[in-house]
Amino acid sequence: MKSYIELIPKAELHLHIEGTLEPELAFRFAERNGIKLPYASVDALREAYNFKNLQEFLDLYHACSQVLVQEQDFYDLTWEYLKKLHEQNVCHVEIFYDSQSHTDRGLAFETVTNGIHRALVDGEKEFGISSYLILCFLRHLSEEAAMATLDQAVQHKDKIHGIGLASSEIGHPPSKFERAFDRVRAEGWHIVAHAGEEGPKEYIWEAIDLLKVERIDHGNRSMDDPELLKLLVERQIPLTLCPISNLELCVINDIADHPVKKMLDMGIMATIHSDDPAYFKGSLVDNYSRTAKALDLSKADIYRLAQNSFKASFLPEARKMELLEELATQYQPRADKTC
Ligand code: ADE
Ligand code: ZN
Repeated sequence: MKSYIELIPKAELHLHIEGTLEPELAFRFAERNGIKLPYASVDALREAYNFKNLQEFLDLYHACSQVLVQEQDFYDLTWEYLKKLHEQNVCHVEIFYDSQSHTDRGLAFETVTNGIHRALVDGEKEFGISSYLILCFLRHLSEEAAMATLDQAVQHKDKIHGIGLASSEIGHPPSKFERAFDRVRAEGWHIVAHAGEEGPKEYIWEAIDLLKVERIDHGNRSMDDPELLKLLVERQIPLTLCPISNLELCVINDIADHPVKKMLDMGIMATIHSDDPAYFKGSLVDNYSRTAKALDLSKADIYRLAQNSFKASFLPEARKMELLEELATQYQPRADKTC
């Protein structure tokens, strides 16, 4: 029997498409493109998924991304992931991608963007999953590189819904990209940024004050600053939290230490997501389930997280209302039961 967590409709808002590359798929693409992976087998690659920090993960993540070469690779990667979302009753997804990771090794911006976008269009037709694509600047690269990426992105405004900021956090504060995000805002795109995952609370302030983000990806370090927590509650700025990612990257030592329950109880617009499910061995449902177990979340907490996932999305208000209504009529918990 499917669990409450599996059954409820929900949205995935913090997901890097390159982070859905399962080892089997990496080997399939490597073979298709005549690329040799530095691992003898699928199992050997899977065993390398063992990280002490964000940078160790990013090094492997960027290395494995090199097996993606043709537009069809990006299509297939996205399609495989959409099938998994459908099984988990995810009805809306906002997908990050790292165009610079691919254009820097010679691929055309169009190869990457069109491949992912074509799969998203098919996913809506086949599964009814609505989707938005969010391009993330790589923050370890320069602001000039981000500007050049913007020049490419403006040619594809029909496919790209927002701009984010990802990759190595420490030493690359949001302020480094202030002018790039001035341009993003002038173009009318939605804005998000990873902040306060490994980096300090000051990076969250900068993301809000300088980049004027609509959501913070992670934001764990906001727990260090009561003023910041107050602002997050007042303005209802969503935090897209990723508990299994935090555990796998040693941001926390145990899921029981994750701040999501405290945040919900404070009135923060907290949501739960999967970040890079292939590398962290945790789907969206796994993230909900393991967190529910470790923090003894009630059905009401889970319901609130699913509600928040729609509220924090960039969907039009009317569609948000429809989804919230569907959730309420079928899944509103009667008693405050645990899951
Ligand atoms: N890119 C992919 N996953 C990431 C993470 N957890 N933090 C920053 N950048 C990322
Ligand atoms: Zn992320």
